[in-house]
Amino acid sequence: MSSIRTLDGLNVAGKRVLVRVDLNLPVHEGQITDTMRIDRLAPTIYELSAKKARIVLISHFGRPKGFNAKDSLATLAPAVARQFGMPVAFATDCVGPVAEEAVAALKDGEILLLENLRFHKGEEENDPDFAAALANLGEIYIDDAFSCAHRAHASIAGVAELLPAYAGRGMEAELKALHLALGHPDRPVAAIVGGSKVSTKLDLLSNLVDKVDLLVLGGGMANTFLASRGVRIGVSLAEMHMLETARAIETQAAACGCTIMLPVDGVVAEKFTPGQAVQTVPIDQVPDDRMILDIGPASVAAICAKLKSCKTIVWNGPMGAFETPPFDRGTVAVAQAVARLTEDGSVVSIGGGGDTVAALSAAGVSADFTYISTAGGAFLEWMEGKELPGVAPLIAAPQVAGELMSNCA
Ligand code: 3PG
Ligand code: MG
Repeated sequence: MSSIRTLDGLNVAGKRVLVRVDLNLPVHEGQITDTMRIDRLAPTIYELSAKKARIVLISHFGRPKGFNAKDSLATLAPAVARQFGMPVAFATDCVGPVAEEAVAALKDGEILLLENLRFHKGEEENDPDFAAALANLGEIYIDDAFSCAHRAHASIAGVAELLPAYAGRGMEAELKALHLALGHPDRPVAAIVGGSKVSTKLDLLSNLVDKVDLLVLGGGMANTFLASRGVRIGVSLAEMHMLETARAIETQAAACGCTIMLPVDGVVAEKFTPGQAVQTVPIDQVPDDRMILDIGPASVAAICAKLKSCKTIVWNGPMGAFETPPFDRGTVAVAQAVARLTEDGSVVSIGGGGDTVAALSAAGVSADFTYISTAGGAFLEWMEGKELPGVAPLIAAPQVAGELMSNCA
């Protein structure tokens, strides 16, 4: 992996350190439903606090257009404090006099959270003045928000050009895990890709067939591939305008020595609603009035048998309509098999992106994977092989901030 600048050897004592975090947490009726993104910040926060940095946390929350109370980070500050077991001060703006005064009041080792960055339109526009106003609040910039690395926003791209920029421990862990998955993976490497549409994962699929030995497809997108092979898929969700594209991906895969695996059986129902009569059928016997809503047991067995000979598995997207039982069974069974292979030490397994984390937690296996990414869109864009605006500035260049390094010889 190109080396990134990390906190190793960085002298932060008494310095104002601007830390980009991702507090865009799932919240339902005022309660945080998944704390993974806060949990993953703890190593960076504890390390900076122990090293006596003055910690200024910046984050977005939701997609507000201007101020609105519902998206205020004020509501999350107490949860952050509870999680870290440390007081967290809050400032009602992320730039300007309010923020400047709050930062000036910070003592060594203390933490301040600033209000939602997206209350200013300069954030998403990567406005140079807004970036400068943020940079003005710190002497060092630390990016610990891999899940935002696909956004070329002021707090991610702009600020990193104005201050010496480093990866936090969470960012570092994500990049190391992703490197294990597709950078220099132990082979054979398999990608399991699900989700509904080929069209939204086109770049992903084209990049993957080049890199992986086995591509297991599930979910709605597998239907499009099946249809492109001439299989009758009844009234299943599929993108009939993408058949040619699916064939092109198959051709590309064949040329790269990548095996594409499609379901050999499916769980079908008349409609996608709970409580329907379901039936498992071989994939070439889907009745004309039924839709495929999950992979069947024969597919699970075939996939698991193939995965046994793999050394690396990267997973994005569920195998079926997993939110609605019983159509979660295929996803759960494959996830559990990957978890077992990981526990046995025979594979490195990395999961991430959107629904994936929810699917793997529902399967009860998140803790058993080698690594689960906190990222949705950023994980996908990384898997598409794109350069991420939040990662590029952290790649180690010749030492830019010599005076900030303490224990470097
Ligand atoms: C996410 O939740 O994926 C990140 O926080 C980025 O949020 P965004 O998709 O609103 O930019
Ligand atoms: Mg997103």
